Amino acid sequence: MKDILTELEDRRNEARLGGGQRRIDAQHARGKLTARERIELLLDEDSFEEFDMFVAHRCVEFGMENQKHAGDGVITGWGTINGRMVYVFSQDFTVFGGSLSETHAQKICKIQDMAIQNGAPIIGLNDSGGARIQEGVDSLAGYAEVFQRNIMASGVVPQISVIMGPCAGGAVYSPAMTDFIFMVKDTSYMFVTGPDVVKTVTNEVVTAEELGGASTHTKKSSVADGAFENDVEALAEVRRLVDFLPLNNREKPPVRPFFDEPGRIENSLDTIVPENPNTPYDMKELITKVADEGDFYEIQEDYAKNIITGFIRLEGQTVGVVANQPMVLAGCLDIDSSRKAARFVRFCDCFEIPIMTLVDVPGFLPGTSQEYGGVIKHGAKLLFAYGEATVPKVTVITRKAYGGAYDVMASKHLRGDFNYAWPTAEIAVMGAKGATEIIHRADLGDADKIAAHTADYEDRFANPFVAAERGFIDEVIMPHSTRRRVSRAFASLRNKQLKNPWKKHDNIPL
Ligand code: HXC
Repeated sequence: MKDILTELEDRRNEARLGGGQRRIDAQHARGKLTARERIELLLDEDSFEEFDMFVAHRCVEFGMENQKHAGDGVITGWGTINGRMVYVFSQDFTVFGGSLSETHAQKICKIQDMAIQNGAPIIGLNDSGGARIQEGVDSLAGYAEVFQRNIMASGVVPQISVIMGPCAGGAVYSPAMTDFIFMVKDTSYMFVTGPDVVKTVTNEVVTAEELGGASTHTKKSSVADGAFENDVEALAEVRRLVDFLPLNNREKPPVRPFFDEPGRIENSLDTIVPENPNTPYDMKELITKVADEGDFYEIQEDYAKNIITGFIRLEGQTVGVVANQPMVLAGCLDIDSSRKAARFVRFCDCFEIPIMTLVDVPGFLPGTSQEYGGVIKHGAKLLFAYGEATVPKVTVITRKAYGGAYDVMASKHLRGDFNYAWPTAEIAVMGAKGATEIIHRADLGDADKIAAHTADYEDRFANPFVAAERGFIDEVIMPHSTRRRVSRAFASLRNKQLKNPWKKHDNIPL
């Protein structure tokens, strides 16, 4: 008996070494942690339960039958993050470069199936040279099996991908179908075809970092939702994110203890909106002043900065925030910001996370690049996402809410539950100057007359009261009491029930 126990321990120790000490050292030399070290940092201490530690590949081509490593390049299992269950897979670059074989894929599929069945998030730590070249089509089949499960899991359990090394070829499509992608700066990259193929086909010379590094994907392409300095920071931030999310679509988001007075008054908000309507102010200040303990978890911080998306808590409960940012492009809606916010709204809606919308929007960005780029279709994404969302929706208009953008930003007409405005709100078809120049075109040569018309328009329309008289605004509130008002609004909506008509699925303008 003792010998068998010793053998098990020996086998475990061998499996834990992955591709061997030399390759572990090489991994460390690059500033990367090993697959197992990453799991340890991600999960609560001693909570990891491993599956399939001894799984080995079955390939007999290219002498592979003589090169087997227990686990086959991926560590899978489940554990907890602050006591809440998650499934995890972590690719081991020290074993055939973390490449995906048939059996490697089967291990990932097993935990995907269990996560869907048992209702817990899936976190994938990706560090892989892609398809296991020696296995050919078996490896491609393995990828497709993983993809199919990504699709089935979407909207059922949260899926989070962390890119912590190479991620190339079709392999990028598994992360691409998950809810959030995080990257590690300087050590991770994602692309469909690498720099060499790019050079051959298009003659472009580009480095891997420029083509698919963390900066590219968080600032330019919007493929990734966040970039972190190193493995340790990335994993700590994933833990923080998981704390905001429900385990699955049948559960409510977690309620955390909070130490912040829900009725907290913030007098500084009474002066946050500048006198001059064209002077910007930082909408993030409002978000952090409303949030419990000022804690804001931003998603896609570096992309389409004219809109802000992320999570806060109110009375300990998760709330998704979408807010125009007057500091960037005056907070207008455009292609990128519409896409960014639409995806976020849909994430919140499929996981029953209430949405707070803060509005200061002068309209859609005009121009040929926007129209040629399909701003109509992309803007419609956000409109559609808000309109189909059945979660509690509370909106606060702080300043401008002009034109179509007023409608889009979780207006009353899109089933907003509480639509508040500050006294500084201007809810109108367009800004006073533009409106005057159209209605009073005949007076355009007379500056005094135009100034008088503009002042008249401002008096009559650049305020929240016309909308409030019609009930489109439920209440004009004092800025200093925003946290109290919004917290009470969400509290009153905790038992909200709203269903859309039955359909197979909708046809959101993609
Ligand atoms: C088998 C692989 C491998 C792979 C790397 N290795 N990629 N083994 N299949 N795809 C092995 C290497 O042979 C090496 O083994 C070890 O992993 C580490 O690789 P290195 O090249 O030494 O590391 P590095 O210099 O860091 O380069 C990493 C790399 C490079 C950029 C990922 O290895 C690479 O370009 N690999 C091939 C990538 C690729 O073309 N994959 C297929 C893409 S197509 P030893 O024994 O020396 O340690 C694809 C299709 C998916 O993925 C389709 C899904 C639909």
